[in-house]
Amino acid sequence: MKEDLFSILNLNNREDARIFAKEIGVSVTELAYYNDNCIYPDYNIIKKILNYNQDLTELELKIRLGHIDSEILSYLQKNVKEISSICNPAAKETNVKRELPHAQFSTSLGKLYKADCLEIMDSLPDESVDLIFADPPFNLKKEYESGVNDGLSKTSYLNWSEKWITESIRILKKGGSLFIWNLPSWNTYTAEILNKYLNLRHWIAVDIKYSLPIPNKLYPSHYSLLYYVKGDKPTSFNQERLPLEICRHCGGDIKDYGGYKNKLNTEGISLTDVWRDISPVRHKKYKNRTSNELPLNLLERIISLSTKKGDMVFDPFGGSGTTYVVSEILKRRWIGTEIGPIDIIEDRFKNLEFPSLLIQQIQDSKNQLFTEEMKKIRTKNGYWLS
Ligand SMILES: C[S@@+](CC[C@H](N)C(=O)[O-])C[C@H]1O[C@@H](n2cnc3c(N)ncnc32)[C@H](O)[C@@H]1O
Repeated sequence: MKEDLFSILNLNNREDARIFAKEIGVSVTELAYYNDNCIYPDYNIIKKILNYNQDLTELELKIRLGHIDSEILSYLQKNVKEISSICNPAAKETNVKRELPHAQFSTSLGKLYKADCLEIMDSLPDESVDLIFADPPFNLKKEYESGVNDGLSKTSYLNWSEKWITESIRILKKGGSLFIWNLPSWNTYTAEILNKYLNLRHWIAVDIKYSLPIPNKLYPSHYSLLYYVKGDKPTSFNQERLPLEICRHCGGDIKDYGGYKNKLNTEGISLTDVWRDISPVRHKKYKNRTSNELPLNLLERIISLSTKKGDMVFDPFGGSGTTYVVSEILKRRWIGTEIGPIDIIEDRFKNLEFPSLLIQQIQDSKNQLFTEEMKKIRTKNGYWLS
């Protein structure tokens, strides 16, 4: 567990921090920057902190901040016998799982629990799911129907994230896939945890603008979708190809293919790790709730790519239930948890005809260079066809 700099220094509020900063001769803004962003303070500031708090050592500070560098690691390794005799952590209970409670909603393929994901994951056996997809709250102070606190301190958010990520790793089967959707800034921390246990397949950039331009920064234009696998290679990997990207209005080329047009595979363009064809759900015809909801084509791609019929899919953060609806339509088994209201999810299951149709359209357009619709507009406007 990481600790906040301020709590290590017994600074209970900003006023305490201001007085402390003045005493050691640094600006409170700078001190708060290190505290709020979980960043290890600059060497000069560390010296001032340690000069003032004579009973604190740099080793203690680093360990409590969760800043285990290679120097500390090697110290811990050299003294591991003594340390383990002092710590002697209680042996972890393995395979003794609590029984799963009664699901609030179920279908022949899936079960949905209105509960904290950690509570349900605790009852799931080791290595029991083939795919985990997680779209956690981004800690952006958004209001969710569930009322979850989306404005935690960075330390608390990271500590909580580590818990559900570690549990996800435990319940994932060998060869199973784990996808985590988040802002790139959070996923740098997620990757740090995952790299210790799983194998990175791809950092996928999903090209969607998610924020307004920020002065003195680049315009944030992609979500990060981490794709990891347990073990050397995935049990299921169903490669797919996409139609050529063309202008939505005139059907013309977006890229110049020069002399390569005839060399393009007629089955389409290989899917890359930059996805440009995922649009946010905004239109009310497709939207099921006021807070954010992922589009069907994102989940269709992830589930089709990494599982086969009958596989088990788990999504800890249900939201409007997109993962469960797509799993059901694609005949995958599924388990879901949502801490907030689940009536929106249940309602979606009352009419699967419309999403089934959309998924059919998504699948029909794959693995060909030009769909029938594209052929029509390109023929009309005189563009080349393979
Ligand atoms: C970003 S939304 C997920 C949206 C979802 N992917 C969709 O397409 O509709 C995150 C959801 O996680 C839920 N949540 C937050 N903390 C949770 C927890 N500890 N256990 C279960 N659900 C949680 C929130 O209530 C929210 O609905």
